[in-house]
Amino acid sequence: MIRKVYTTPEEFHEQNRLLELDLPFSGDLSVLNTVLPVGNKVIPNRLACQAMEGCDGTANGAPGELTQRRYDRFAKGGAGLIWFEATAVMEEGRANPRQLWIHKDNLDDFKRQVERIKETALRENGYAPLIVMQATHSGRYSKPEGKPAPLIAYNNPIFEKNAPIGKERIVTDDYLDRVGEALVEGAELAKEAGFDGVDIKACHRYLNCELLSAYDRPGRYGGSLENRTRLLRESVAGAMERCGGDFIVSSRLNVYDGFPYPYGFGVKTDGSTDFDPAEPIWLLQKLRSLGVELLNITMGNPYFNPHVNRPFASGGYEIGEHPLEGVARMLKGTAALRPVCKRRRRSHMV
Ligand SMILES: Cc1cc2nc3c(=O)[nH]c(=O)nc-3n(C[C@H](O)[C@H](O)[C@H](O)COP(=O)(O)O)c2cc1C
Repeated sequence: MIRKVYTTPEEFHEQNRLLELDLPFSGDLSVLNTVLPVGNKVIPNRLACQAMEGCDGTANGAPGELTQRRYDRFAKGGAGLIWFEATAVMEEGRANPRQLWIHKDNLDDFKRQVERIKETALRENGYAPLIVMQATHSGRYSKPEGKPAPLIAYNNPIFEKNAPIGKERIVTDDYLDRVGEALVEGAELAKEAGFDGVDIKACHRYLNCELLSAYDRPGRYGGSLENRTRLLRESVAGAMERCGGDFIVSSRLNVYDGFPYPYGFGVKTDGSTDFDPAEPIWLLQKLRSLGVELLNITMGNPYFNPHVNRPFASGGYEIGEHPLEGVARMLKGTAALRPVCKRRRRSHMV
């Protein structure tokens, strides 16, 4: 099988043909230089910096010196949209002791960080990017003191194998109510800090994403599709209601995680890992009806099945799949969902 990742357009075309992927490709890049309106705001071009944590905040959760340096560089890069990295809204939901964590006592630090990005970009490029802050609770990946302190929606044998996590670490419905409130408060703080929008993160198996496949969980957050998507939908609705106006409420959304039913979202129920868009489409429609106009679609879990999450040339396992096949899965999966949003005209996906 072909393992080489393309390095030139010619090689890309050759591999695209050999693998029969039918990936679209254009040498005309002018579209990247066109604006994209979102609500009452405008993204000045089509380049986006995806969310990327540096784990370099202060102990108190504020952006540190290295965080600032990173965002200076992103700002200078000229992207029209900067998806500001995973930022915890509850201390116990931090993924590491240096993950950013927004709260009332460090709000001024976040204000200065946002101003700095906008000023740097304006000075360097003549325009400022839109900046969306990713609000998160790390769930099973929580490690606020540097050692694993998972908070899970349900025990999952794919992850836990034969060693289930203790019941006391399965979050209760009351706890999830508080997470929802913290996400909405995080959105309000993000707005106060000057961000253009907030992302209620629901991907990569963090807490909100894990709930999407909590088929066997009892109570208000498990079982039916309505229950499994409750935390996301209610946090989005709450953020819309409290932040309102021009503030963008979005989500980096898992639409397929590549785990078989009953442990995966967006999969067929026949035990395979085949993509089934039915539930993601329902969710997209609900988010659209709440007024969501911008979504950041993603798939997979970077820690467990990275070949679903990004072009995967090498890693901790062999998958027998060319990296471009992973690219095609993500691109075609997103394309299959796009008409749902297009019908209402004003929804965009990145
Ligand atoms: C160091 C690092 C940090 C990341 N942090 C985040 C994050 O905070 N939030 C998020 O949604 N994705 C995060 N990601 C995932 C990236 O946004 C992106 O989806 C992934 O790297 C695949 O895209 P690529 O093939 O362009 O790297 C991170 C990835 C890396 C490598």
